[in-house]
Amino acid sequence: MEITSAEFIISNTQVSKCPMPDKPEFAFIGRSNVGKSSLINMLTQRKNLAKTSSTPGKTQTINHFLINQKWYLVDLPGYGYATVSKTTKEGWSQMITSYFTQRENVYCTFILIDSRLEPQKKDIDFINWLGGLGIPIALVLTKIDKIKQSELARSRKNFETRLLKDWEELPPIFITSAEKKTGRDHLLNFIEEASKK
Ligand code: GTP
Ligand code: MG
Repeated sequence: MEITSAEFIISNTQVSKCPMPDKPEFAFIGRSNVGKSSLINMLTQRKNLAKTSSTPGKTQTINHFLINQKWYLVDLPGYGYATVSKTTKEGWSQMITSYFTQRENVYCTFILIDSRLEPQKKDIDFINWLGGLGIPIALVLTKIDKIKQSELARSRKNFETRLLKDWEELPPIFITSAEKKTGRDHLLNFIEEASKK
């Protein structure tokens, strides 16, 4: 799929103020600093469409981007950012819970996982929670430019083994590097197919 237009629409802390849910929507979530905003920029080939930072906790709101006038990419704040206050965490949790329980046009949620790490409890809990809500998910292993092929294979296997303890089937898994633009075609093809359903 060619991306011919990518436009920032709105930033929100309230789900009720998000755009009309009249188009397929694809959400990006994962631990803080895992590379959600960078991946959106890589997919759309726009350097600063989504705001990125080397410091965790950059994205704090629900951000809608309209792609090709047809569907939305949504950049969400990260979970598991240790230094934010309890109140901020509760606000986050409320915002994310409302987003996933109320937003009716989410066709698929991409859960980003740092390819260098062992399965983290926060990721597994989140996957199990979303899966339990019946929301289609796909996993994206990020920052693969930072590890060797052999380490990536091992890391992926570990993750799959962990998931199969709780689930009978594995979700689609994508391998990406925003730095090297790896995985762009695969992800965009998947989105294109999914948005037709
Ligand atoms: P929050 O909004 O804080 O939750 O973070 P995020 O998940 O949106 O991460 P962001 O895209 O801001 O990236 C965090 C840091 O990781 C930045 O310094 C990026 O440059 C870096 N980064 C993101 N993707 C990649 C990648 O594929 N490879 C490498 N080497 N660095 C990456
Ligand atoms: Mg971000």
